[in-house]
Amino acid sequence: MRATAHQVYVVMYTVTADLLARKSNAAAASGEEIATNNHCSTQVSLAMKVSFTVNDQCHTLELDTRTTLLDALREHLNLTGSKKGCDHGQCGACTVILDGRRLNACLTLAVMHEGARVTTIEGLGSPNAMHPMQAAFVRHDSYQCGYCTPGQICSAVAVIDEIRAGIPSHVTADLTAETEATSIEFRERMSGNICRCGAYSNIEEAIAELVGSSP
Ligand code: FES
Ligand code: FES
Repeated sequence: MRATAHQVYVVMYTVTADLLARKSNAAAASGEEIATNNHCSTQVSLAMKVSFTVNDQCHTLELDTRTTLLDALREHLNLTGSKKGCDHGQCGACTVILDGRRLNACLTLAVMHEGARVTTIEGLGSPNAMHPMQAAFVRHDSYQCGYCTPGQICSAVAVIDEIRAGIPSHVTADLTAETEATSIEFRERMSGNICRCGAYSNIEEAIAELVGSSP
């Protein structure tokens, strides 16, 4: 089938934009001179070293300071389990656990986390030695395409820790009472993790099983 002129244009535009972005990133990371439109040149050095522990392994990276934690994990450490869904903090596909708290890795810069401990889906378990939450997701059929699943699982693991630590949510009625592991709490706390396949009720069942409550 012949490509239309529009399709050719889209492909050329995409490739060119990608090449320009890579060149710019490489130049910025190495402190190279970048020519500007008005024929001046500017010496820039946007690279910075950062060391953190990811899945119990220490890493020191020299990164463009604008690199998000998600890109550092995916592009520099080859940990592609954390997914880039929206890159704008709206879908939760990039959720990782940082120093015991979940966060959207696309919304934070890697160089902000010197000395941090990061756990990604790869650090929670493996196909032969699954984390209990991963196993519960399998038992309850809590995914379809699986794209959101790493973020869902990291989030769910942290949700249980939040409830056990007595951290209230928006729907916690009594702030002085012990936080309960209820269906409404799971739904509220997991509301930042979007699943386009609509596996929500199965995800809730998996979490409920792990905390021993009925959904
Ligand atoms: S990719 Fe981070 S919230 Fe969507
Ligand atoms: S399983 Fe497909 S987006 Fe959630």
